[in-house]
Amino acid sequence: MAISTTPPYSQKGVVIPVPVLVLSVLAAATMLFFLLSSLSTSCSCPPSLQAFGGGNGNGDGGVGRVSTTREDIEWVRNQIQQNGLHMQDNILRKGINPRTRAQQLQDLLQFKGISHYEGAEADNHTALPCPGELLVEEHHSNYGEPWAGGRDVFEFLADSSHLSPNSRVLEVGCGTLRVGLHFIRYLNPEHFHCLERDELSLMAAFRYELPAQGLLYKRPLIVRGEDMDFTRFGPNVMYDLIYASAVFLHVPDKLVWVGLERLVTKLRPYDGRIFVSHNIKFCSRLGGEECTKRLATLGLEYVGKHTHDSLLFNHYEIWFEFRRSRA
Ligand SMILES: *[C@@H]1O[C@H](CO)[C@@H](O)[C@H](O)[C@H]1NC(C)=O
Repeated sequence: MAISTTPPYSQKGVVIPVPVLVLSVLAAATMLFFLLSSLSTSCSCPPSLQAFGGGNGNGDGGVGRVSTTREDIEWVRNQIQQNGLHMQDNILRKGINPRTRAQQLQDLLQFKGISHYEGAEADNHTALPCPGELLVEEHHSNYGEPWAGGRDVFEFLADSSHLSPNSRVLEVGCGTLRVGLHFIRYLNPEHFHCLERDELSLMAAFRYELPAQGLLYKRPLIVRGEDMDFTRFGPNVMYDLIYASAVFLHVPDKLVWVGLERLVTKLRPYDGRIFVSHNIKFCSRLGGEECTKRLATLGLEYVGKHTHDSLLFNHYEIWFEFRRSRA
C-alpha cells in the first residue's frame, strides 16, 4: 500500500510526522478490514482454490503444476467481477502517484525515497545496492513486447518437454531472465544454466531480478560469454531442455550450426529437446533437404512446429522442436 503524500515528491525530503503516519496507516487498515470482511461474506466463489488438482491431470494437487488452467482463469475472472473492477485512467489519487519510468528514476535519484539514510549511513545499510535504472525496471522494456510474455514461453516449453523440477535446462541467451526466472523458480537449485553475452542484461539479472524475486538460493549457473562457448558448464552435464528464444535470429547461420554441434552431445538422447523460437532460417536457408541432412549429420531430428498463445495479450509464439536421434 502506498503511503499518501500528495504529491509525494513535491519538495525535498518529505517529512510526515509519526503520529499522522500511524493514524493514517491505522485508518487504512481498518477500512481494508471492513472491505475484506464485506467481500468475503458476499463472495459466492467456489469453496476452495485447492481444486487446482482438477485441472492439471497429474493428480498432485497443483504442486509442480506449470500451466494456467481453465479453473484458474475462471477464478481470476470471478475475482475481477466480484470486486467490480474496471480499467480507469491512472490519475493522481489518494496514496497513488502514477509516474512513468523516467519520472520514477528522476524521483529516485533526486529524492531517494520517503525514508532513507543520510551521510555516512547512506552507504552501509544496503546489502545489494541496485542501479536506479534497474529499480524502475527499464529492462522490462527491452524486448519490444510485454515482459509478461516470459511466462507464456516458460509454460509452453515446460509442458512440451515434460519438465520436472529435477530436469536440467540450458537457455542460450537468457538476457534479463524474462523467461529464465520462471524456470529458475520451478527447477531445483543449480539446474538452470544460461549463456548470455549482453553485460547490461546480466546486470539486470544478477543485481535486480534474482534478488528481487528471492531466487538467489537457486544458484542458477549464468555465464557471460559468446560465440557458443559452453565449456564453462562442465563436460558431463546432460540437459533435458535446451532452448533459444529469439536468439538464433541475431546470430550468423554458421555460428548457430557451431552451437548445435557443441550442444548435441549435451542433450539427453531421444527424450531431451531443443526448442528454437520464431524461425529456423539457419536451416531452411540451406533448402529443405539439405537442412534435414545437415541436422542428421549432427544426430538431430526435426520434430515439428508449434504455436503457443499468450495468456495476457494478443500474441502467439512459434517454436521449432528438435531431438537427438541417436545416443
Ligand atoms: C555505518 O557507518 C557509520 C559511519 O562510519 C557508523 O557510524 C554506523 O554505525 C554504521 N552503521 C552500520 C549499520 O554499520
